[in-house]
Parts: sequence; C-alpha cells; structure tokens
Amino acid sequence: MATGPSRSGQRTSLDPPKGDSAPAGPGGGASARAADRGAERVERRRPWLLEFYGSAVGKKYVMAITGILLMAFVFAHTIGNLKLYVGAEAMNFYGEWLRDFGYPALPHSGVLWLLRITLLVSVALHIHASYALTQMNRHARPGKYQSKRDYVAATFAARTMRWTGVIVGLFIVFHLLDLTWGPVNPDFEHGDPYGNTVASFQRVPVSLFYIVANLALGVHLYHGAWSLFQSLGINNRRFNHWRRMFATAFAAFVTLGNVAFPIAVLVGIIR
Ligand code: HEM
Repeated sequence: MATGPSRSGQRTSLDPPKGDSAPAGPGGGASARAADRGAERVERRRPWLLEFYGSAVGKKYVMAITGILLMAFVFAHTIGNLKLYVGAEAMNFYGEWLRDFGYPALPHSGVLWLLRITLLVSVALHIHASYALTQMNRHARPGKYQSKRDYVAATFAARTMRWTGVIVGLFIVFHLLDLTWGPVNPDFEHGDPYGNTVASFQRVPVSLFYIVANLALGVHLYHGAWSLFQSLGINNRRFNHWRRMFATAFAAFVTLGNVAFPIAVLVGIIR
C-alpha cells in the first residue's frame, strides 16, 4: 500500500500529512493545498532560462545580448565591404575566404552556416523579446497617457525604434534577394559579390533604398547601442558620457560606411 508521495509527485489521500499542513477540514483545505503544491512543482520544472526569459529583465537581457551579436555582425560586414574600394579581386577573394573558413576541420561553408544560424536565431529572439516587452508594458499601464510628456522626454531614436526596426527588417529581405540569392538583381552572378554590388547600386532607386535603409539602421543602432547598457544593468550616470560617445561613434561608422558604398558606385569611384 502506498504510504508516501505517489510517483507522479502528487500526494495521495493516504499520504501522511506534513508538519506544515493543518488538519483537513470540511472545506477540502488539505486537497486544495496539495493542488497548490502540485502547481508549484509544475512551475518549478520549467528550465530556469525560460523562467528568466518570462520576466521583463530576462527579455531586456535577451534584447541586449542579441543586439550585441547583431551589432558585431554589422560592424564586421561594414569592414569587410570596404574591400569594394580595393577592387573586384580583393572583394571576391574575401567572399570565397568566408566560405572556406574553418575547412577542412569543418565542412565547406560550415563556419558561415554557424554564423547564419546564430544571426537568424538572434534576429528572431530580438524581435520576439521586443514585441513581448511592448505587450508587458501595455498590460502594466492599461490607460492611455494623459499627457505626451513621456514622448517629449524620449529621443527621436527611442521613439522610432519600432519603425526603424521594420525598415531594417524589410531591407535585409531585399538585400538577400539582391546580393545573396539574386532574383531581384538582373545581373547577378554566383561567386561575384563585387560585380553584383556594382550592378545593383547602378540602379538609382535601389541605391536610394539602400541609403534610406542604412540611415534608419543608423538611428536604430544609435538607440540600441545606448540602451543596451541600461538593459544589462550598467546604468551608472558617471558612464553616460562614454555610453553616448560609444553609441554615436558606432552608429556613425556603420551608417557613413554603408551609405558611402552606393554613392561611390553612383559617382563612379567604385565601378
Ligand atoms: C551598402 C551596404 C552593404 C553592402 C555593400 C553589402 C554587401 C553584401 C554582399 C556583397 C553580400 C553577399 C556576400 C557574398 O555572397 O559573398 C551581402 C550579404 C549579406 N548582407 Fe550585406 N551589405 C551591406 C549592408 C548590409 C547591412 C546593413 C546588413 C544588415 C543589417 C547586411 C546583411 C547581410 C546579410 C545577412 C548577408 C548574407 C550573408 C550570408 O548569409 O552569406 N548587409 N552583403
């Protein structure tokens, strides 16, 4: 006969009462407490990472960490693209090197695929955490603002994060179709990133789109690079000056670097 807790973890009616429990009354108090404990155990079984992600602080950490990974990519990508100024051979060799990197220890393009998967997961988590945080804020503050003061206090970059994020997302889809897969680039040739980039930027509307999208990316990066410290709990006012400098320098480098490529093609510096 079972005298202890059952295998499922739920106490049976034959379990001896624990010291902290009051005698079962007519209202079924003992069974209610048992049910509570059962629920507690179910909750406790959630992995701590998921538990952490369920909180606002956890989501902010995820936004900051995925943001840092995406910033690192965009920084490295801008530096890599500077090879456009060196010439076709250097740029195309660099593209090939990225595919060969890690070979033969890893399969051909293995490192590149690891990078792609990391980027994809980062983008998905970044978007999900930002959406979930917005929902949490809405539920925590059901009424509309009485005044617009909060908005006035926030910077332009902070207020437009959602829209600059959407523009960057659409840009990435177009960019992949343009320079990685090629269906929106009539002169696309596999293995010729230099020629593909030049052909793409010679179309004025495409160049304009790249410029607008990279300006939006710059605004997004500026606020992201500034607020990631806050999200990670590094928010001592003494560092605000350095945070502002870092956010400005980072956003300026990526934006000016990327905006310059289509302009350089349009004016014939890169051809
Ligand atoms: C004007 C600026 C940019 C230029 C000239 C440029 C150029 C390129 C080129 C040539 C490729 C194809 C590389 C290859 O197949 O070997 C590429 C891929 C890619 N670019 Fe850009 N890019 C620019 C801006 C950006 C920005 C701002 C982002 C992100 C916000 C970005 C994200 C990507 C991604 C995700 C890939 C695919 C990488 C892969 O999976 O192989 N690019 N870019």
